[in-house]
Amino acid sequence: MKSRLVLGIESSCDETAAAILEGPRNLRSSIVASQIPVHRRFGGVVPELASRQHVLAVDTVVRDAMSEAGCRFEDLGGVAVTYGPGLVGSLLVGIQVAKAISFVHGIPLAAVNHLEGHVCSLALENEEIPLPALYLVVSGGHTSLYLRRRADSRYETLARTRDDAAGEAYDKAAKYLGLGYPGGPVIDRLAKHGNPQAFAFGIPKMSDRSLDFSFSGLKTALLRHVKSAGIEPLDFMDGEKDPGPEDCPRPVLDLLASFQEAIVATLVTRTFKAVGAERAACVGLAGGVACNSRLREAMAAEGRRQGVPVLVTRPALTTDNAAMIARAGWEHLEAGRLADMSLNADPGASLG
Ligand code: KG4
Ligand code: ZN
Repeated sequence: MKSRLVLGIESSCDETAAAILEGPRNLRSSIVASQIPVHRRFGGVVPELASRQHVLAVDTVVRDAMSEAGCRFEDLGGVAVTYGPGLVGSLLVGIQVAKAISFVHGIPLAAVNHLEGHVCSLALENEEIPLPALYLVVSGGHTSLYLRRRADSRYETLARTRDDAAGEAYDKAAKYLGLGYPGGPVIDRLAKHGNPQAFAFGIPKMSDRSLDFSFSGLKTALLRHVKSAGIEPLDFMDGEKDPGPEDCPRPVLDLLASFQEAIVATLVTRTFKAVGAERAACVGLAGGVACNSRLREAMAAEGRRQGVPVLVTRPALTTDNAAMIARAGWEHLEAGRLADMSLNADPGASLG
């Protein structure tokens, strides 16, 4: 690379983001324009609205990232962009912008898998990642376990979800109970005030003994508890106000705490089963749900018990952002793995 500055661009779902990274860890800027207010009243991301919002935001977001870092396009050593997985119309916006910058300014282009981006977010703040490393990527679209054995080896998929992702379970539960969107942060906050033992949720097990996840059963169990306890949905979906514990009847707080505990127990149990099977030297937690305070606490406690470090990053680098894309792109650019003008979106791209 002619310079150590990499521009990262991310537009796979409902965040338009750009970041400038210098070398492997010096984050010079990271701008994220969230579309949450646009999608909130629908209780989930509306793909057509998402791509339009990206078109409106991308120019400003890239310019802001460049000016905050104090650099010009001519200073860049590379541009890295998410090519998938994600929403096709959204991905294409970031890809077209990255290709245009690359073409006009003669800057090398790197194509980054969004999931690899999440994994690489951990390298932004953790200097040393002991190998073999086991990564739990847990977001609104994915719940997967990946293993990286050596620095030069590919990511191996050890487990994935067979139905809903963990973040999706949070979002659907919050929508059903009228708590707002996205569901994760609000449930994280409210669950602290409830009793996690109040409602019984089984931990889903796979009949073929694989490590795969399944969260749709928890959703059904939640609906059953709502009916049997006579819980009425609240009215916070417009996002004007976030519900506080004082707005929620006791059974709602208890239900949220119990629901969250079941998700956390599933994630911790499966992750450490894989740690044992693969003799992993560390666990890396990434993706939006990795912001969850109870998950972080339970993972850290199990890590301490088993003598395995659990690595995390600050929440701004855990949810969708472009710093992680720049970090993954930096590795590709250093290794000479370049993309060209034929780069296209791959909405179903997998990692490993
Ligand atoms: O990684 P991310 O920003 O986007 C995807 O790639 O999906 O993850 C978004 C997901 C949403 O489902 C959101 O509810 C969840 O992450 N999330 C949380 C928390 N913060 C965000 N889930 C649980 N607890 C949180 N504190
Ligand atoms: Zn993501």
